[in-house]
Amino acid sequence: MCGIVGYVGRRSAVDVVIDGLRRLEYRGYDSAGVALVADGEAGGLEVDKRAGKLANLEAALADHPLPESFCGIGHTRWATHGVPSDRNAHPHLSADGRIALIHNGIIENFAQLRAELESDGIEFASDTDTEVAAHLLGREYVMEGNLTEAMTRVCSRLEGAFTLLAVAADDPDTVVGARRNSPLVVGLGRDEYFLASDVAAFIAYTTDAIELGQDQIVTIDRSGVSVRGFDGSPSEGKPFSVDWDITAAEKGGYETFMAKELREQPQAVADTLRGRIDESGQIVLDEVRMSDQDFRDVDKVFIIACGTSYHAGLVTKYAIEHWTRIPCEVELASEFRYRDPVLDRSTLVVAISQSGETMDTLMAVRHAKDQKARVLSISNTVGSTIPRESDAVLYTRAGIEVAVASTKAFLTQLAACYLVGLHLAQVRGIKYADEVSAVLDELVAAPGKIAQVIEGLEPVRQMARDCALNGGSGGGRVLFIGRHVGYPVALEGALKLKELAYLHAEGFAAGELKHGPISLVEEGTPVIAIVPSPRGRSLLHDKIISNIQEVKARGARVIAVCEEGDRITSAHADFVIETPASPTLLAPLLTAVPLQEFAIEFATALGRDIDQPRNLAKSVTVE
Ligand code: G6P
Repeated sequence: MCGIVGYVGRRSAVDVVIDGLRRLEYRGYDSAGVALVADGEAGGLEVDKRAGKLANLEAALADHPLPESFCGIGHTRWATHGVPSDRNAHPHLSADGRIALIHNGIIENFAQLRAELESDGIEFASDTDTEVAAHLLGREYVMEGNLTEAMTRVCSRLEGAFTLLAVAADDPDTVVGARRNSPLVVGLGRDEYFLASDVAAFIAYTTDAIELGQDQIVTIDRSGVSVRGFDGSPSEGKPFSVDWDITAAEKGGYETFMAKELREQPQAVADTLRGRIDESGQIVLDEVRMSDQDFRDVDKVFIIACGTSYHAGLVTKYAIEHWTRIPCEVELASEFRYRDPVLDRSTLVVAISQSGETMDTLMAVRHAKDQKARVLSISNTVGSTIPRESDAVLYTRAGIEVAVASTKAFLTQLAACYLVGLHLAQVRGIKYADEVSAVLDELVAAPGKIAQVIEGLEPVRQMARDCALNGGSGGGRVLFIGRHVGYPVALEGALKLKELAYLHAEGFAAGELKHGPISLVEEGTPVIAIVPSPRGRSLLHDKIISNIQEVKARGARVIAVCEEGDRITSAHADFVIETPASPTLLAPLLTAVPLQEFAIEFATALGRDIDQPRNLAKSVTVE
């Protein structure tokens, strides 16, 4: 939420900063702005900022190019305090105009600081919480004459979550950053250095990076990087190398990042499984820093996550309880710590977060650690905060996911969660070795089946367009129903459609429909049913067929996602999407995919912005 970039080096700063913002725009796109320090003795700040997407700023810069500069900062905003507008766009300037500052996070004591500054006669130019930091920094800089010292003093006054970057008009060689709770990484080039919310901003230039710790201040200039604590003591970041490929951050001929990322799912799942099952069928989780004994000691599992990652957690509950017989609860991270959950040393908390930066999840992780629980995180982002603060981590290998609505991150989270569940079963000896390897064989076969689903998506696209364009009928809503692991898939399908199409879409446990939500069904309402396999005379299958009949009797247009060859379902549904046969617990890897495509096509037909839906951000770093 909010993307920030800083650069010092030998290239045109505006080009590097805008390029970085383009890759961080998934973090927010309410406004964008840059501040450059003009090169040469005189220095001076050049600022441009515009409401709306980055394209507005780019157009403004094309009309009025800024003078040459090799040092600058840039920001793409997801609004918290103050409406999206030019005046609330970052950077914000100090009262004397000599300091420009950008911010990601929320300064919780801003009201008190603002009152103090206003009583000193400072006039505010925006409604943001950020501006207080710009004025404080301006004041300190006048007294200290050194940006790093000034930033250190300002941080001691701020409460809340913040990453700040600042430049000074008379120092064309320095960007100073500060980090508490919100992400900030350093990119190390040759005679050039980068600061950014995430590595995507600079991987076109370097794959060498440093992750910063909590409460650290970082200074980059043309000669290098220095890090100190908020208390002024010398400190260090942790070096790492980025293995993401820059082509992953390009659309590669697709209309949207989301369409491309959906099609990368077979590879992403295969990559996530790669090297994690050895020749004897044992699961090897290299990055996990928990011993087999630690896993044996677990007597309860809590899964915490938000959004799509929460839905991956809901699927995982079914798998963990079935495979390991350990009780497993799944909770929205934003609710978890406020209800005082019962945790102890033998509780395993699994935190699922694509970005590794979601503030709600991070705070829940900290709460779990305070209660002495062990925390295992599943994340897609090396160097991010949640994995760093966890006892153990298992990385998904989805590569960069740019579209705000998640596709490949979701499927790789499922794959990683299945590995964790099977690993628990293996080390605890709950399942026979051949039972575990039978599931693993199916897991390894999943990427091929996902590819098959993707190949068969054309009819789904046509049907989705048809549904969208006939949106006037059926009450202007789409319902999703499922049972067992089909229920979280229904929730995820509805979330995708809500996110992309701005339409009332809701997922329900199919059995619950008759207890209230069925009143939403009217003539023509599309109801998408996730149908489990009919094999083995499945009771679940029979039950959902009844639920399909119940909605059909009330006029619903039933779209069923079912296993290929399921004649019973095809006899009852108006439209059928077939997926290859799969064990029940692994089916979400297949059934989620057509729902992703349905949402893309439905929203495209309505003219929506697929990669950057309104009001959303991919990485939500405020609570
Ligand atoms: C935001 C995104 C969702 C995502 C959720 C959790 O709301 O828009 O797509 O699922 O955050 O993100 P995380 O990075 O923790 O998985």
